[in-house]
Amino acid sequence: MRILSGIQPTGRFHWGNYFGAIRQYIEFQHEHEGLYFIADLHALNTIRDAGVLRQNVQDAAIDLLALGLDPAKATLFVQSEIPEVSRLCWLLMTGTPLGLLERCHAFKDKKAKGLPASAGLFTYPVLMAADILLYDSNWVPVGEDQVQHIEVCRDLARSFNVHFGETFVMPEAKVVEDAAKVPGTDGEKMSKSYDNTLAIFEPVKDVRKKIMRISTDSRPMEEAKEPEGDHLYDLLKLVASPEETQEVAAIYRRGGFGYGDIKKRLADASERYFAAARERRVELESNPQYVRSVLDQGAAKAREKASEVLARVESACGIK
Ligand code: ADP
Ligand code: TRP
Repeated sequence: MRILSGIQPTGRFHWGNYFGAIRQYIEFQHEHEGLYFIADLHALNTIRDAGVLRQNVQDAAIDLLALGLDPAKATLFVQSEIPEVSRLCWLLMTGTPLGLLERCHAFKDKKAKGLPASAGLFTYPVLMAADILLYDSNWVPVGEDQVQHIEVCRDLARSFNVHFGETFVMPEAKVVEDAAKVPGTDGEKMSKSYDNTLAIFEPVKDVRKKIMRISTDSRPMEEAKEPEGDHLYDLLKLVASPEETQEVAAIYRRGGFGYGDIKKRLADASERYFAAARERRVELESNPQYVRSVLDQGAAKAREKASEVLARVESACGIK
């Protein structure tokens, strides 16, 4: 199976990105052919500063490698380094009904709020379809929020195939079932738009500070409490060992504990959990030539497949 997924370099990755998405992608690399890319063309819809975008792409590559993406197993590349994707995007665009895009939530939500939206945001699902179809991808692991876009991709592939003959491989969304819906420090879904994130690689003492400030209820100390669904416990479960998780669950159920102790345990456990990745990150940061070479090799490999698929599509629709 060929697995493909993309992630936007719109800021430093947080626990939600890792436990909800990245961790699963990285696990797939052991069993399947994996293609993973940094979606900088998508990010241009929101990041309008060249320096920031460049830095974010570099950081995203380093973060992914530090978190365990292995270039010997999977292909890591930057979306914009494969020009074939823009070409395919156009070819798909000519067969995309406006109504299909009008129903897509990224655009619909913005419009509903009366915010200005660009053609880039409106046609975002078509570029995403090109990302997927360009590599004959079979599975696309995504979070729940992206399923609609995979449906659009399948619609576009299907109608192209019906019109021009079998050309595209039909991809499938692989919704990461047990992917945690990671809560933020305020108990809402962790998201950079809510300013409630714990970033994976921010300085340890800053993470610790944020953890100590996690909101909790005003339950009296002696009262027992069900741990499941409590956001502090749910965060702990992600980074603590099964033994420690059980121990903390028992403490909740027994009652008579303070949240401060649990927060301290969470901070310690998270430090341990990400320690090896942190070390790798420091090494990678001091070796930008290595990171560049990984991305160059990734792009070369991705382009081989991309040019083969693009030639097939062009021939099918009669422009070559
Ligand atoms: P953000 O909400 O911070 O803007 P993105 O929308 O860029 O994050 O998400 C990138 C990926 O990380 C997506 O696949 C998304 O499903 C996943 N993700 C983001 N936040 C969470 C979360 N709190 N829990 C689980 N998965 C998440
Ligand atoms: N839209 C995805 C997100 O915001 C990122 C993305 C772009 C993607 N192209 C893709 C994911 C292709 C999977 C496949 O998370």
